[in-house]
Amino acid sequence: MVGTIPPAGTGVVGGVSVLFGLSAPGVRNSDSRWRQRAARARLALIAATGLLLLTGCGELPQTIMQPAGDDARLVQGLLMPILWIALVIFVLIEGFLIFSMIKYRRRPGNEDIPKQVHGNNRLELLWTAIPAAIVLVIAVMTFKTMAVQAEAPGEGALVVEVSASQWWWEFSYPELGVVTANELYLPIGREIDLRVHANDVIHSFWIPKLAGKIDVVPGIENRMKFVAEKIGRYQGQCSEFCGIAHAQMRLLAFVVTTVEFEEWAEKQLTGPSAEAAASAGAGIFAAQCAACHSIQGTAFTFGQIGPELTGMGLRETLGAGTVANTPENLADWIREPTAVKPGALMPALGLVEDDISAVVAYLEGLR
Ligand code: CUA
Repeated sequence: MVGTIPPAGTGVVGGVSVLFGLSAPGVRNSDSRWRQRAARARLALIAATGLLLLTGCGELPQTIMQPAGDDARLVQGLLMPILWIALVIFVLIEGFLIFSMIKYRRRPGNEDIPKQVHGNNRLELLWTAIPAAIVLVIAVMTFKTMAVQAEAPGEGALVVEVSASQWWWEFSYPELGVVTANELYLPIGREIDLRVHANDVIHSFWIPKLAGKIDVVPGIENRMKFVAEKIGRYQGQCSEFCGIAHAQMRLLAFVVTTVEFEEWAEKQLTGPSAEAAASAGAGIFAAQCAACHSIQGTAFTFGQIGPELTGMGLRETLGAGTVANTPENLADWIREPTAVKPGALMPALGLVEDDISAVVAYLEGLR
């Protein structure tokens, strides 16, 4: 193999060091300034890596390790013991492996073949029984959790119907008559009876801090119940690949007090002011947008194809979490939806700039 080993400073290692500016190719590192610079670069690299790792420990928007709902707590309560069991097994097995590799390595002059244990009944039984017992323990814990999750929601639970389409969410509260899209409001402490169905392909509804995942399947209704336990803003995400804009099929859940929730619902039903309803934007909305989009409290309640736009001005994001809800972004969206969200099914309507501004003003005023 002599001759195939690359000289120092070339090959993969050399290439990597050049990439990170750790040494110059073909230059001897006798130059002390170069060495200093290389040392500094290495330090910076280590610091950057450390920082990156540290940021991983802060507040995470979508983690199951910081539960804020009873169902998320159930899931974490199952995960942690399994994680600990797995960790103990990992340390034991790797420990034995490394110990054996060192202790029983071939030494010079030792040409004997070690004692063969193939067919050792006691060992075979032992390493079948132990994993079986571990799997049994995990299975019992899992079934117990699933039994709790399968219990029917209690009386007084708030029904929220979730309807998934490529690539956005509709949330409907039959009890209140409120329909909204992509941003879900939930009263703290009240049980939520979530009923999900899909309009096209399979999606998966998931707000990691509040509850486990639930498949959203065309033709059937799946149900999940949970109680949001902490006031806050929670990110969610479709977690079943459902086409080109799957990654931009996000949602936000706002857990608020009962009073705030009632205020929000009332606002949704009120509709725009008389002034807004008579604006130029409303006229353009009627002609160009109302066939697909609905706004409660107006005459435009028949559009069913696109997301409900009630309370649009109150929303944080556009395009199911794709961009922030600003007048500029909304104008960009109306001008060319696929430029903001590749794959978006809304067509570009070819509106003139004045009309776009008028519609943006009308929609952003819905609050
Ligand atoms: Cu919907 Cu992925």
